[in-house]
Amino acid sequence: MQDMPDGLHAGKVALVTGANKGLGREIARRLGGLGMTVYLGARDEQRGRQAADALRQSGADTQFLQLDVTDQHSVRRAAERIGQEAGRLDVLVNNAGIAVDAERPSKQRPSSDIRATDTTAEHMRWTYDVNVFGVVAVMQAMLPLLRRAPAARVVNMSSPLGSLTLHADSASRVSQAGLLAYCSSKAALNLITLQYANALRGTGILVNAANPGLVATDLNTFSGPRTVEQGATAAVHLATLPAGGPTGVFLGDDGPVPW
Ligand SMILES: NC(=O)c1ccc[n+]([C@@H]2O[C@H](COP(=O)([O-])OP(=O)(O)OC[C@H]3O[C@@H](n4cnc5c(N)ncnc54)[C@H](OP(=O)(O)O)[C@@H]3O)[C@@H](O)[C@H]2O)c1
Repeated sequence: MQDMPDGLHAGKVALVTGANKGLGREIARRLGGLGMTVYLGARDEQRGRQAADALRQSGADTQFLQLDVTDQHSVRRAAERIGQEAGRLDVLVNNAGIAVDAERPSKQRPSSDIRATDTTAEHMRWTYDVNVFGVVAVMQAMLPLLRRAPAARVVNMSSPLGSLTLHADSASRVSQAGLLAYCSSKAALNLITLQYANALRGTGILVNAANPGLVATDLNTFSGPRTVEQGATAAVHLATLPAGGPTGVFLGDDGPVPW
């Protein structure tokens, strides 16, 4: 799928974290296709440069930006660079994420997700460093730049696995998921989304959570039934909301997800 450049989004400045592969790379490609200048955030220079170069060759204005969301210096340097080069940030997609408790399946252990009762504090810290504290660190650093944009949009990549409503429903498959570290990190991200949406209401900055669905990426050893093209659609929609669009919603391309 290719979105066409239009007068509405051309020239906007976007940052996608964790964009060297998977959903982040596809979101960066699509925002670039709309004519935005996209900072492709990646913690690894080689992987990030490769992805940015490939997207540039397909016509998108993408710039590699070294960004490890768990490293304060890296986050601060990233904000400084965007500030110096662009002076503002129109779109922030907090996409970087890990699932350390979704262990790689093998022939011996086809399903090896760690059960809640076996989850350690270390699994939690490792996961929260990226999926929770990383989002807050990036948001804190980028907020002055978002405030300088006329109508900034923030998209947090969440999951139904973070839904308290679905976890509380024993008939829902989500309630059988396990993955305590990952699921609770996305539940925290959902509350963080609502807090920012409420705090920034009336400023023109809209903050929402996107549900990509179950997408085949490294995160799940490519076991998801959906493609990255399908999975990126909700995030691109929320990143390009018009003035007066919603804030504090949790949306997939098939509709709202219960918090
Ligand atoms: N795939 C799904 O079905 C699904 C469903 C719901 C939600 N999501 C969410 O969608 C987002 C993207 O996931 P994905 O499926 O595209 O996974 P992925 O292919 O594994 O991509 C994850 C990205 O995050 C980056 N990352 C990890 N730790 C980072 C750090 N400390 N700093 C900066 N970047 C870091 C990875 O970089 P490296 O290459 O350097 O590791 C990679 O670019 C995640 O937030 C995930 O939770 C995915």
